[in-house]
Amino acid sequence: MFTLLPLAALALAGSSLAATTCNGHAELCSRQYSNVTFIGAHDSYAVGDSIADNQDKDVTDQLNDGIRTLQLQAHNASDGVHLCHTSCALLDGGLLSDYLGKVVSWVSSNPNDVVTIILTNPENLPVSTYSPILSSSGIETYLYQPSSSSLALSDWPTLGELVDQKKTVVAFLDFEADFSTEPGLIDEFSNMWEDAYDVTDASFQCAVNRTSGSASSQMYMINHFLDTTYAFGGTSFFVPNKDALNTTNAESGDGSIGYHVGNCVQLWGRNPNHILLDFYDTTSNVPFNVAASLNGVSQPTNTVTAGDATTSTTSGSTAKVSTSNLSSSAVGSFDGAKNGFILALGIVGAGTVGLSKVFM
Ligand SMILES: *[C@@H]1O[C@H](CO)[C@@H](O)[C@H](O)[C@H]1NC(C)=O
Ligand SMILES: *[C@@H]1O[C@H](CO)[C@@H](O)[C@H](O)[C@H]1NC(C)=O
Ligand SMILES: *[C@@H]1O[C@H](CO)[C@@H](O)[C@H](O)[C@H]1NC(C)=O
Ligand SMILES: *[C@@H]1O[C@H](CO)[C@@H](O)[C@H](O)[C@H]1NC(C)=O
Ligand SMILES: *[C@@H]1O[C@H](CO)[C@@H](O)[C@H](O)[C@H]1NC(C)=O
Repeated sequence: MFTLLPLAALALAGSSLAATTCNGHAELCSRQYSNVTFIGAHDSYAVGDSIADNQDKDVTDQLNDGIRTLQLQAHNASDGVHLCHTSCALLDGGLLSDYLGKVVSWVSSNPNDVVTIILTNPENLPVSTYSPILSSSGIETYLYQPSSSSLALSDWPTLGELVDQKKTVVAFLDFEADFSTEPGLIDEFSNMWEDAYDVTDASFQCAVNRTSGSASSQMYMINHFLDTTYAFGGTSFFVPNKDALNTTNAESGDGSIGYHVGNCVQLWGRNPNHILLDFYDTTSNVPFNVAASLNGVSQPTNTVTAGDATTSTTSGSTAKVSTSNLSSSAVGSFDGAKNGFILALGIVGAGTVGLSKVFM
């Protein structure tokens, strides 16, 4: 015991790390994963200019730009698990396995970067559905496996430890995680809380919206995307408020990233761990500079340029492509599976409590 204690202390201090740069900065190697702020892409796979899209660039470009948190929504289809928004007829971002293949390719050539995946599971697919995909895509070997299903803030490894161990992907599952059979898919809500999502007013107050633990001892993710309501077929839906992107994704000012983070820090006394954005590329480097400042490191030197979808939509009305994109197959699905569709996009006025499964 006498000899083990100093060794353990040494390991915790990170003084035996091989990694010299982590997520672009030497200082981050000795920082615990639970003490770093990452910029995330909300619905990372939903790339394009349809009403159900949230991003301009595909996952490889997102990672190259500096996105380190990838939020996904899984749906079962005849040929495997797809990444869809609400329903695969409305927006089909392709197979989860193909998406993960791109992530594997990126992390294998960027071994000093820690990437987080937040997998949402609206259909309650069992973990046994995901395990073969994690394995065949090659991502399994990169998945960090914690020592228990939920970790205290102080128990998370440092980025340097994750890099040294080549466990540079930290993956969370919102529902149905099973530590005993798939420890690499970490239960989200016993480790992390989220604030409100699909909000239409930009007050971003940072109250706890979903958790199954005690918020003050968990990491937290803020849903920093602003929606607007869009009427279709006699019902109102929440869709991204594209007209407000330059304010929502700004550094400071009412409704900005800085404003939201400020509300959080005032309430919780620490910075958010993950900041999820829609169309993160609309304000160039701003989100990444904000994260650098929160992390106390220098600003990244790459330049983020706007992707195609935003360029073609920001000047138009909020839901520019809505009716045309909802025509054919999506509308068929809307009529045929109305309840699922409505639940999925979120009907205006529908309330949720605790661990609600309204898709977003
Ligand atoms: C997923 O879909 C396939 C094909 O329709 C089906 O055989 C399988 O049972 C589904 N899996 C789950 C978990 O629902
Ligand atoms: C969580 O957020 C949703 C969407 O913004 C909202 O409708 C709901 O009332 C919130 N629930 C709680 C418990 O705060
Ligand atoms: C944001 O974009 C809108 C529409 O293009 C424009 O009217 C507004 O002035 C812009 N706001 C800022 C803060 O740049
Ligand atoms: C990291 O720790 C510092 C010092 O306690 C704190 O100011 C900061 O908010 C923390 N960041 C996160 C994401 O926990
Ligand atoms: C949505 O509709 C617009 C306008 O018709 C079209 O240019 C665009 O390609 C469509 N996007 C998708 C993802 O189908």
